[in-house]
Amino acid sequence: IAPPPLSQDLLEWYDRHARTLPWRVPPQARAAGIMPDPYRVWLSEIMLQQTTVATVKSYFARFVNRWPGVTDLAEAPEAEVLGAWAGLGYYARARNLHACARTVATEHGGAFPTTAATLRALPGIGEYTSAAIAAIAFDEPAAVVDGNVERVVSRLFAIETPLPAGKKEIRIRTGELTPDLRPGDFAQAMMDLGATICTPTRPGCILCPIRPHCRAAAEGRPEVFPVKKPK
Ligand code: ADE
Repeated sequence: IAPPPLSQDLLEWYDRHARTLPWRVPPQARAAGIMPDPYRVWLSEIMLQQTTVATVKSYFARFVNRWPGVTDLAEAPEAEVLGAWAGLGYYARARNLHACARTVATEHGGAFPTTAATLRALPGIGEYTSAAIAAIAFDEPAAVVDGNVERVVSRLFAIETPLPAGKKEIRIRTGELTPDLRPGDFAQAMMDLGATICTPTRPGCILCPIRPHCRAAAEGRPEVFPVKKPK
């Protein structure tokens, strides 16, 4: 009999070890048919772009308490949104956040578009964020590649092409690994693995659920990857 594919090994680990996060629907609930609110997925992904999970948690709670839905956020004066954003940095993100909420409210009837391609047209939503929302909120098998996933995938395949040139191969490989069943959990599992086990320094390969699939671990040199082009 064939060994389990990488995605199955990773998803079984995620079922046992998924982090509990305020914007996340746990895998057991998703399995029962509960899906996350796209507004909360979008808001969390924008906040997480240049800010740590630990810092984002309290901001996320304040935002969803004050503006429970995208229409509420759209109706708020921009100055109030920028004020609530204070401390998260990168104010262009907050301006785009508000512009995006207004676009969803006025041009999409208050409902987020449901595909990566259509999400991509909204203010502040780029390649990563469109794929993340499509996968997590709508289970589209999009390749979701953030810094964590770059590290995991570059190690799995021992990709020697330095970043940023290596990003293309990483995206292709991530797409090939992404399953048609549970792609949203797969994306979140890859992020959790990168954050908790496949860390930049001293990765915990002993604990890794996909170590049998990993070329860098087999070669005993995980921390070499991702190779970065010297500045
Ligand atoms: N970092 C960015 N997005 C994330 C997510 N959805 N889950 C865990 N970590 C993340």
